[in-house]
Amino acid sequence: MGPEHLAGVVALQRSCFPPPFPEEFLWRREHLERHVLVYPEGQFVALDEAGRVVGSASACRIPEDRWRAHLPWEETLGGFFFEGFDRNGSTLYGADISVHPEHRGRGVGRRLYEARFDLVRKAGLARYGTACRMPDFAARSDEFAHPAEFARAVQEGRARDRTLTPLLRYGLRLIQVLEDYMLDEESGNAAALLEWTP
Ligand SMILES: CC(C)(COP(=O)(O)OP(=O)(O)OC[C@H]1O[C@@H](n2cnc3c(N)ncnc32)[C@H](O)[C@@H]1OP(=O)(O)O)[C@@H](O)C(=O)NCCC(=O)NCCS
Repeated sequence: MGPEHLAGVVALQRSCFPPPFPEEFLWRREHLERHVLVYPEGQFVALDEAGRVVGSASACRIPEDRWRAHLPWEETLGGFFFEGFDRNGSTLYGADISVHPEHRGRGVGRRLYEARFDLVRKAGLARYGTACRMPDFAARSDEFAHPAEFARAVQEGRARDRTLTPLLRYGLRLIQVLEDYMLDEESGNAAALLEWTP
């Protein structure tokens, strides 16, 4: 991701996170400007043949103790501007991945994840970690009383989630479910904590 892609990334966010996802959680240009300034290696875009942004992935480097604390997103990253960036941190922490709805299911997300895993290997980091939405939980909350039960069912292939299922297919491992991770009605405000190690 370079400065020339930021307008495309901002537009992509709107296509990827429609209501009820809170609009105030979408990247604004000034957030992305800071990400590419402090940690350019951690920010990726996918482009179509015409050079338009059809996918993006933002990540921050965080220290081991903060990874192990499993805190809500704001404390983990230091907010939208990645104030918690640590250039010596052991963990590449994924803040967002977005693929345009018209380009999904063609391996774009997988390519973005491969780029992240390559970065972990090249930089000699301990892991890639993230906390993943489970937007299909709300629609199935009559069957699954708790987001953790739903996440387990997705892991075991008894249920599908449009976000968690792809991330598990990339080889990420479910560690636990974090409650009150962020305001996210569809996911029951919870997130699935995931890890990949080289
Ligand atoms: C999650 C997301 C990034 C996946 O991107 P994508 O490019 O469509 O995914 P891929 O084409 O790489 O698919 C990867 C695997 O997941 C599976 N998959 C993709 N979408 C799926 C869905 N809706 N339900 C079940 N499985 C799905 C694919 O079949 C594929 O499996 P395979 O590797 O065994 O063939 C994309 O759907 C997205 O942008 N969602 C909205 C934004 C979002 O929620 N981001 C995550 C925030 S935590």
